[in-house]
Amino acid sequence: MRGLFLTLEGIDGAGKSSHIDALAVLFKAQGRTVTRTREPGGTPLAETLRGLILEQPMDALTESLLVFAARRDHVLKVIEPALARGDVVLCDRFTDATFAYQGAGRGFDTTVLSTLERWVQGGRADLGGASSAGNALLQPDITLWFDLAPAIAAERLAGARVPDKFESQPVEFFRRVAAGYAERAAGAERFVRIDASQARDQVWQQIEAALFDRGLIARSTGASI
Ligand code: TMP
Repeated sequence: MRGLFLTLEGIDGAGKSSHIDALAVLFKAQGRTVTRTREPGGTPLAETLRGLILEQPMDALTESLLVFAARRDHVLKVIEPALARGDVVLCDRFTDATFAYQGAGRGFDTTVLSTLERWVQGGRADLGGASSAGNALLQPDITLWFDLAPAIAAERLAGARVPDKFESQPVEFFRRVAAGYAERAAGAERFVRIDASQARDQVWQQIEAALFDRGLIARSTGASI
């Protein structure tokens, strides 16, 4: 049985990462094996690239190439093997982030991003066969999109930690990123919009309800985190 590929997306400060632990516990309680990972990152090479992407100034093409280089390594070494084993893969960000940040945020050409997406996630034999699902484009089965007004996200982030290159962008940048996510979500059924302005336990209840409605967990526990 092929596994389940679940991604979490949203602008910085939307609170997605704080729910990954609970998601892992939830799926394990359903008898599933869970692989937790993140992007950029997830392999030694991709984590090295993450440091460069988050700290070094660079043009948008360089940034996009590095993000997809990291993704290629991650897909081949971690995501595809885990899905082939039948794991639930919980991935903190994936390609939707590239369309939102590099595409909408930085204004980079999304047709180039689509081409890179096909190369990296396309699974074509001549490109090394990234996808065990044949020639189909590897995409998440479900994407939890944490939607939050950029001004509120900025308030939440303020003083939380030393900001990286993206986190220190002005709120206007995040307005564009948020619009990029909204556009991407409108085009694919795998997106579940989570109202991230709610309190943490209500956000969790939305997540559980969405997984239950889609038949991905056996029952809604109603538990809060
Ligand atoms: P994180 O803080 O949620 O781990 O994400 C790292 C940062 O990297 C975040 O600001 C979004 C950014 N990013 C991109 O710009 N493009 C991408 O493709 C990915 C995966 C992340």
